[in-house]
Amino acid sequence: MSETDTPKLDRRPEWTALADHRKDALAHPDLRELFADDPGRAERYVVRVGDLRIDYSKNLVTDETLALLRELAAATGVFELRDAMFRGERINITEDRAVLHTALRAPRDAVIEVDGENVVPKVHAVLDKMAGFADRVRSGEWTGHTGKRIRNVVNIGIGGSDLGPAMAYEALRAFTDRSLTLRFVSNVDGADLHEAVRDLDPAETLFIVASKTFTTIETITNATSARSWLLEGLGGDEKAVARHFVALSTNAEKVADFGIDTANMFEFWDWVGGRYSYDSAIGLSLMIAIGPDRFREMLDGFRIVDEHFRNAEAPANAPLILGLLGVWYGNFMGAQSHAVLPYSHYLSKFTAYLQQLDMESNGKSVDREGRPVQWQTGPVVWGTPGTNGQHAYYQLIHQGTKLIPADLIGFARPVAELSDELKAQHDLLMANLFAQGQALAFGKTSDEVRAEGVPEEQVPHRTFRGNHPTTTVLATELTPSVLGQLIALYEHKVFVQGAIWNIDSFDQWGVELGKVLAKRVEPALTEGADVPGLDPSTAALVAAYRELKEV
Ligand code: F6P
Repeated sequence: MSETDTPKLDRRPEWTALADHRKDALAHPDLRELFADDPGRAERYVVRVGDLRIDYSKNLVTDETLALLRELAAATGVFELRDAMFRGERINITEDRAVLHTALRAPRDAVIEVDGENVVPKVHAVLDKMAGFADRVRSGEWTGHTGKRIRNVVNIGIGGSDLGPAMAYEALRAFTDRSLTLRFVSNVDGADLHEAVRDLDPAETLFIVASKTFTTIETITNATSARSWLLEGLGGDEKAVARHFVALSTNAEKVADFGIDTANMFEFWDWVGGRYSYDSAIGLSLMIAIGPDRFREMLDGFRIVDEHFRNAEAPANAPLILGLLGVWYGNFMGAQSHAVLPYSHYLSKFTAYLQQLDMESNGKSVDREGRPVQWQTGPVVWGTPGTNGQHAYYQLIHQGTKLIPADLIGFARPVAELSDELKAQHDLLMANLFAQGQALAFGKTSDEVRAEGVPEEQVPHRTFRGNHPTTTVLATELTPSVLGQLIALYEHKVFVQGAIWNIDSFDQWGVELGKVLAKRVEPALTEGADVPGLDPSTAALVAAYRELKEV
């Protein structure tokens, strides 16, 4: 069958079977009933991968739902596409690229070919170069222009060139060299760079300019300003740049144009998508913070889940199951969003990271053949650490009108370096996670509320209808390996969903229009130039801005 003959997803019999199942067998799924009818689901709906124990029993599904979803996955070619990805085929069709972030964590002796060339030796050569550099910075051997030791590392990048290392640095703080200060600058708002460097000594500061393309305006603008700041602080000697700037990029030419010696460039390749790149050279700042050994442990964690995704049978394949649950809620139950709620302070940036991973990958509305999709694709992903959310937006999840499936993520042990008193708080933290999962699923009936003596007029307000689905991901401790496992779990979940929806999860054309328009509008703001083709509303906003700017 040619690609253009690919049947539309919603015309497939497996899709119709799920729609019928939703109308008939699961017209009114109720978690209380599902557990009463099948208490064994608490044991059965648990999948283990590496150090992760994933309990999906509190979802609005039965064995039949899951079987039908697996049939949909098989019919839509998820497994064939997965194998093609791992083999290095060009499954990013609109950019005609391979999608090989999995090669970034392949063992040294693996063979993964792109256009007949084994890319694994290149991956390890860069990892080794990164390790050498990271060790030199960490030991003090790499000094700044004046001979001072580097004490501050500032990563300048945006999107995938920022979110991964920034998230992972927070997540693994307990494993970092505390004598180093790491900062992450992404926003073209000058305040970002200002706040990042205002208390730093330029002589002790290393800038890592991270950009796959090395053309991203925010990053190049910030890097240019950082260079001015550095040169101003160090007396203007251009030679200082070589000791204080390194680049992470696929584009050696642009790196050289910027004035960074390509000997100080750490390379990656067009088959690494920006949002899949933090275990490539893009992770250099993280590697400096946690050291090469911990970085490699993290890569090993990614690999555990890669192997699992590749080899585990469908009923026990964790990313597949999570992906299928998302399809169930988004396409058959009307959910528009998905909350990710880590019960860990260290995962404070985890959901922001997943937003790019999921929404830039699956925020698409034409299928791989360019036809408009007639079905929902990627959800809005949102959330913050759970306990904070409990005192903010959980009200809406519990008693609002929307269906919001959520992932609750927690750890059995706090990180080792907390004091005994702070460690003791961990049980309270986790009690909140378990309590929320229970409250969301089973709620509190009006009879239960009445039985507590609540006045009748308040009963509806204090009733929790429950039935809110959650998946609980539990691991022993937030180590580098566990972080890698978690990220790979979500990477492959997003992959599964994109494959089922028949969209290209690896391009991001949706970010282009705004970039082009910003370039066009900027001269109107800076020089008062006329911008042809501005719509009346934007033209009025620009005029108002210019007026206000002068006041
Ligand atoms: O926002 C679009 C995007 O291309 C992302 O996909 C990417 O991660 C980000 O910009 C940064 O791109 P670069 O690494 O090329 O600067």
